[in-house]
Amino acid sequence: MANLDWTKLGFGYRKTNTILSCSYKDGQWGPVESHTDDNLTINAFAGALHYSIECFEGLKAFRGADGKVRLFRPEENAKRLQRSANYIGIAAPSVDRFIEMCVRAVKENIDFLPPYGTNASMYLRPTLIGVNPQLGVKSSTECLFLMLCAPVGAYTGSTLQPSYVVISRDYDRAAPNGTGSFKLGSNYAASLYSYNLAHKLGYEAVLYLDPLHHQYIDEFNSSNFFAIRGNSYITPKSDTILPSITNKSLETVAKELGMTVERRPVPVEELSTFEEVGECGTAVVITPVYQIDDRPALESSEVKPYYFGSKDQCGPKSLKLYQMIRGIQDGEIEDPFGWCLLVD
Ligand code: PLP
Ligand code: COI
Repeated sequence: MANLDWTKLGFGYRKTNTILSCSYKDGQWGPVESHTDDNLTINAFAGALHYSIECFEGLKAFRGADGKVRLFRPEENAKRLQRSANYIGIAAPSVDRFIEMCVRAVKENIDFLPPYGTNASMYLRPTLIGVNPQLGVKSSTECLFLMLCAPVGAYTGSTLQPSYVVISRDYDRAAPNGTGSFKLGSNYAASLYSYNLAHKLGYEAVLYLDPLHHQYIDEFNSSNFFAIRGNSYITPKSDTILPSITNKSLETVAKELGMTVERRPVPVEELSTFEEVGECGTAVVITPVYQIDDRPALESSEVKPYYFGSKDQCGPKSLKLYQMIRGIQDGEIEDPFGWCLLVD
């Protein structure tokens, strides 16, 4: 077991034992290789470096209360990677290859899997890049699929600590009819200017609106949006947001808890009616939001704030959702939906 303070892990790079790779060349995938060095040698003309021919995934492995290791819904990530790869016209690994590499990465790095009860987990970062040398703007014909991992704690540094966010009205992360619903690295690059501005203003995340009308809520820079009003779980329906596996799971959990689920366009003004708001995603799990500031422009001094619950406590319904999903991931609650894959 690695000598780490598991309760103090943030969300960052940490050297583990190995990374895995698998190459696609001449129309076929080669063998899976394991490397102790995290540095890659790739051609400087690789399409990934010039035209962002890259897509990725994020999923977690957990050490359960029963000592068993669980991967949360890896098949969903495998399929979403295939969808992203298809959009940029590159080959993607099969679902079986994807899952085999997740399992192997966990096993080879098992001493970096945080123990049960620490609120930490192992984050897996499947990454697919175009690697053949090219100058023209074309989909890559040769790819490298990597399975990377790192032990992580809370994304924001502190579990369930309510956050401060700002609406971006002058910058969008995705275009109408664009790439917003695919997990492409280029979407994250596109969000960095507004994120950096927001960060300088003291906000932890940016909330983007629908890029066509700027009337409806889309999602945060690294997570989906959900809100609670009465007994309803409300989350945006939009073509420009990432179809979050956590959000989809929370919709199921909410129904299981007897809540009504509404997936529909959510006008910004509706924020004033919500009792609880949260970010959801693999990295953030559920991060409650205490305050959302609406500014005509990120750097404008004019601010319309919306507040939700308490500034140092997660709301009761968000907490219930959190406890159920984390309980399933940790093997404390029976997994009625068959979401967890046991790594033996
Ligand atoms: N939206 C964005 C922009 C993200 O980066 C993420 C993180 O993966 C999510 C939503 C949440 O998706 P998931 O729950 O599948 O991790
Ligand atoms: C995830 O939650 O897995 C993400 O990819 C979000 C972010 C760290 C990019």
